[in-house]
Amino acid sequence: MCGIMGYVGSRSAPKVLLDGLRRLEYRGYDSAGIALLLGQTIDIQKSEGRLDNVEKLVQSDPRRLENATCGIGHTRWATHGKPTTQNAHPHQTGHIVLVHNGIIENYIEIKKGVMARGHIPRSETDSELFGFLVLEAMEEGLSLERAVRESFSKIRGQCSMVVMSEREPGVVVGVRNGSPLVIATDPLGGALFASDSQPLLQFTRDVIFLEHGDVAIATAHDLKIIDLKTGALVSRETTHLEWSVEQIDKAGFAHYMLKEIYEQPGALVDTLNGLLDRTGSEPFTLAEQPGVEVLRNAKELVLLACGTSWHAALLGKYWLESWAKIPVSVDLASEFRYRNPVIRPGTVVVGISQSGETADTLAVLRELRARKIPCLGISNVRRSSISRDADAVFYTSAGPEIGVAATKTFVSQLLTLLLFAGFLSRERKTLSVSELSRLFEDVVRLPHVISDGLEQNSEMIKAIDATVNSLTLSSKVFAGVKGFFFMGRGHSFPIALEGALKLKEIAYDHAEGYAAGELKHGPIAMLDPEMVVVVLAPKDSWREKTGSNLEEVKARGAKVVGVGDAEDHQLSQLCDYWIPLPLESRKIDPDLLPFALSPVVQLLSYRRAVLKGTDVDKPRNLAKSVTVE
Ligand code: G6P
Repeated sequence: MCGIMGYVGSRSAPKVLLDGLRRLEYRGYDSAGIALLLGQTIDIQKSEGRLDNVEKLVQSDPRRLENATCGIGHTRWATHGKPTTQNAHPHQTGHIVLVHNGIIENYIEIKKGVMARGHIPRSETDSELFGFLVLEAMEEGLSLERAVRESFSKIRGQCSMVVMSEREPGVVVGVRNGSPLVIATDPLGGALFASDSQPLLQFTRDVIFLEHGDVAIATAHDLKIIDLKTGALVSRETTHLEWSVEQIDKAGFAHYMLKEIYEQPGALVDTLNGLLDRTGSEPFTLAEQPGVEVLRNAKELVLLACGTSWHAALLGKYWLESWAKIPVSVDLASEFRYRNPVIRPGTVVVGISQSGETADTLAVLRELRARKIPCLGISNVRRSSISRDADAVFYTSAGPEIGVAATKTFVSQLLTLLLFAGFLSRERKTLSVSELSRLFEDVVRLPHVISDGLEQNSEMIKAIDATVNSLTLSSKVFAGVKGFFFMGRGHSFPIALEGALKLKEIAYDHAEGYAAGELKHGPIAMLDPEMVVVVLAPKDSWREKTGSNLEEVKARGAKVVGVGDAEDHQLSQLCDYWIPLPLESRKIDPDLLPFALSPVVQLLSYRRAVLKGTDVDKPRNLAKSVTVE
């Protein structure tokens, strides 16, 4: 959840740490701080709010920029204690300074012990308590490395930690015990630590993903890995990263989110290329990889995820059931785990997580796998933690997604589930070869469908802009907008949920997604002229029924934004605002229309957020990778 950076070498440590933390801010951004070794002492600068505050503090003394070549830094997403400067990391206890990501579950017990021994914590965090344990162990004569290992044996919970001590200046010790930690040798000498690989790319593309229970010890001349429990040296393979620094820059777009919306066609092409065996003559041939056999043998699927990935799972169910006739249940990872679900023999569980780090999803996979239930993953991040907790992972190839609100990873997940559906339909012979070939041709067309809509000044873009400008800026048209409902039937229903989530996430509007048929069973009571209802009604088999629901909404005086086929004049006339889908979308099977709808709901939220002036890429209270349950 939080972002960690560490560095020791010959470069300017504050520069390395601040640059790195900037690329990690998506993990949490309610407070930040860095600790720098200046001579024999450690100087800490931290602040609530964004990293810019810390940068100003660091720059206030040129000595820091000129002399420090060793330090650690952190961006926080508060779990224990409010997002205040006091609670911001790094935490100092005596000569020990540390940054932490994750949770110490037995912190109450640790706190009692620490306080009983005369220490007084200065923050409300669980993290600071670990510093007292290390301090005590060093007082007993242990080295920093031994003291950190010893202290780890006293805590429970998934976390990673990077620690320094004024008693061992120039030594940085990092532990991965759950939450991810990546290390690299700096080509100029020295070593780097980070909680994901992105901030390291500007220095090197060769990194090591530490495993659970690894301790990395770095100095300006050496980097070694030992086992947390035994202290024995361990060797880990180096991974050469495929992502480039250019991919993680904004490339002229105002926000990462907008760039990522526009990268969707490319994300789909790369995901197709990554998952399919295009040399095979049969449609929907998945490239050979360990998970394919597991999928082939599945008699039933359980899809588990959180947030946007859960919406992808909901949509996947429609395709998998109607094409492959395989029973599918979908659940929120956080709920599934605690409700003693019945899992029949032959069931394969698929955990979907763009980051591959979401604690709720990983925890449930871990438990199910321990019960010998086959578990697959779908993720966008290679070597993320899901690769450890699932038997095999299918990777989407959306490239790095920096904006907190998922966009291109979402459509890549949809595509992956669609490929699963096609593959299983062929294996289970539930669709004929000609049906599959026709659908496959349409799947290959999906990147064009999205790029057609996203073209500058396309009818779709113009209509989205006009709609949002009017809803947001023109008080003449609307006395006010107090909330949004998104509604859709069939394949459009999960997109309605996703549209509402996007609007909540980045524009902070009250928004709900509904199955169009459900509106009359309660939510319709909310409708009045200050409510906006976004009706997703593409030309599919649900179009007529959704049209009737639209009339019900209109009759209650709500303002209606319709999204549908460009020539659906009957529908467009009923709407206050009309957003036509791209013409290319008429060439594909109606089952695939969610790919045309997704950019619409993403851009609606994006435009509204920009007009409202929110921080689109880093919305308040959120983090992209939620590594706590
Ligand atoms: C966080 C993010 C959401 C995301 C969810 C699941 O809550 O803010 O945007 O959908 O995590 O993330 P995952 O990485 O598991 O797909």
